[in-house]
Amino acid sequence: HGTSQINAAGHLEIGGCDVTELKAKYGTPLYIVDEELVRQRCREYVSAFRASGLKFQVAYASKAFCVMAMCRIADQEGMSLDVVSEGELYTALQAGFPAERIHFHGNNKTLDEIEMAIDAKIGCFVVDNLIELQLLGSVAAEKNVRVQILLRVTPGVEAHTHEYISTGQIDSKFGFDIGNGSAFEAVQLAMEQSHLELLGVHSHIGSQIFEVDGFELAVQKVADFARRIDQELGFQFKVVNLGGGFGIRYVEGDTPLEVAQYVKAITDAVKTHFSGWSSETPEIWVEPGRSIVGDAGTTLYTVGTSKDIPGVRKYVAVDGGMTDNPRPALYESKYEAMLANRANEPVEETVSIAGKCCESGDMLIWDLELPKVERGDLLAVSCTGAYNYSMASNYNRIRRPAVVFAHQGNSDLVVRRETLQDIIGNDMIPERISKEPV
Ligand code: LLP
Repeated sequence: HGTSQINAAGHLEIGGCDVTELKAKYGTPLYIVDEELVRQRCREYVSAFRASGLKFQVAYASKAFCVMAMCRIADQEGMSLDVVSEGELYTALQAGFPAERIHFHGNNKTLDEIEMAIDAKIGCFVVDNLIELQLLGSVAAEKNVRVQILLRVTPGVEAHTHEYISTGQIDSKFGFDIGNGSAFEAVQLAMEQSHLELLGVHSHIGSQIFEVDGFELAVQKVADFARRIDQELGFQFKVVNLGGGFGIRYVEGDTPLEVAQYVKAITDAVKTHFSGWSSETPEIWVEPGRSIVGDAGTTLYTVGTSKDIPGVRKYVAVDGGMTDNPRPALYESKYEAMLANRANEPVEETVSIAGKCCESGDMLIWDLELPKVERGDLLAVSCTGAYNYSMASNYNRIRRPAVVFAHQGNSDLVVRRETLQDIIGNDMIPERISKEPV
């Protein structure tokens, strides 16, 4: 998919770059991003919203993959940006991302983060709870600025991968409950704070969702709430943010819809539920992360050792693992992979792909069908663009891989591979224990 193909030599090519050449140039493990596919996904969102005729913003949820080059692409493609920490905010600002299109999320923003974001003049805070509402109001008053906010609400729609429960989801660490009155109270308090400008509400129902029903139900609940606020407080929301969560295909059997179908379902539901009572349809914001970068990413590994337990299983170990992709260990996530240097050869064996970390749970893929695998082969795991680099760790003091963007035959490093110096870069040996043995 995307710009990936198998070339005449039987090698996987991404963005016009032969991965065996990428291995020679950058080493492995290597995250390879199909830049054209990322741009295409951004454009799919923007054009689907344009087609709806509604006012909109598409904010890339940078938590999925936040590096400066990615922030540049999001900016070039006309996206807004969702950040959730000072680190993501700093990355975006350093990349020159326009502050007015940055939205700041999180259930426990620190005072430092709030001040940093206000000083940078970001576009909007998504306020999660009453303590934060007060804190933000008082910092804004101190600085004598007016800060735009959305209130995060829990609409009582909980999405688990592809099912959702439509009962009141009170048990969540995020947001104000629409059902129990706390969201209503938050709106009243926000309206009273002269240094806060309430734009509207935000709802996010989950991640890797395939069906549109959950989104439609969320729109309905948010619209019911908006109507009540209009009737009882005489206040109309200018903005409704419906979060992210649009699913992608990792393996056969995953059945996501096209970006345009998700957008149409949402915008249609908005038109239905806000018509007849709302004088103006609110501006619709969404925050896709995974569906922008997920399937554009591939991780390239080199095969090292293997262990064959006759009649049981053959383990094949690669030079990365849970440090660059913690998702199988964390969520039992499934991935597809291929031998990238012999991609045209027939399947000959079933193997399980192990990482190199010192724990048994460090398995990337169980029961993968491949040609006969040999030491030195290249394994390409697909759909690793989202929540891989951004969730990578230095467990076992393993260095984080490099990231390259591949585009029309060019490859460019966007994150260099960590060095051993990086590994000890923050370590300090106190004088007291630096001396000779006692
Ligand atoms: N907006 C909010 C408020 C969110 O919490 C999230 C994701 C998004 C947008 C973007 O959702 P997406 O379009 O990427 O599904 N680490 C997990 C995913 C955690 C998602 C957290 N919030 C994973 O690897 O599957």
